[in-house]
Amino acid sequence: MTDAPKFITVEGGEGVGKTTQLGLIENRLRELGIPLLVTREPGGTLLGEQLRDLLLQKEGLAPTPMAELLMVFAARAQHVSTVIAPALERGEWVLCDRFTDASFAYQGFGRGISLDLIHQLAQLTHPKTNPDLTILLDVDPEIGLERARLRGELDRFEREAMPFFEAVRAGYLHRVKQEPHRWRVIDASIELEQVEQQLDTVLKEWIAREIS
Ligand code: TMP
Repeated sequence: MTDAPKFITVEGGEGVGKTTQLGLIENRLRELGIPLLVTREPGGTLLGEQLRDLLLQKEGLAPTPMAELLMVFAARAQHVSTVIAPALERGEWVLCDRFTDASFAYQGFGRGISLDLIHQLAQLTHPKTNPDLTILLDVDPEIGLERARLRGELDRFEREAMPFFEAVRAGYLHRVKQEPHRWRVIDASIELEQVEQQLDTVLKEWIAREIS
């Protein structure tokens, strides 16, 4: 058992049902009386939310892949220093909707930026703040994108072509292979109820091991 507060992140492509599953994780942790901060990337601070708006804006800005990468890391630098690290220091757990794995998947695999460069930025931005557990909601991008389309208007990322989403998925699966102990992969292509059951089982098992 460790008393150290945990940093949990949730990742996945478009239309994987991240918001719903994050809600479920939040409820489970709160039921256990765990002090918890829930946040998201890009975002989580005033600066980060403004950068998020710029990143998702459909027209006009067209950031280059490098500009995009630096924007997500600018948002992250602010978020880690002013929100995530202080919460962990106060003893709160942190549940974050996306983190640096998304930069490896989207900017690395999706846009083709060097993984080594992303690794260096991660080292500079949050050398000591890394997730203890990352849940990947994995879905075939054809299914995910169809769900995203049904949800409404698409943002700048959601308007990418299928090879981009296939590369993003491959990027996440590559990250899982590199650090299997940190990741739990959930098949998010099936019925919502079954996804929730899988997630519940995985979470219970992980929490029991960490705080029993
Ligand atoms: P969300 O709408 O799923 O919260 O995420 C917004 C978009 O931002 C999503 O399409 C993925 C993208 N993103 C990156 O490209 N790189 C990153 O580092 C992060 C955190 C998100």
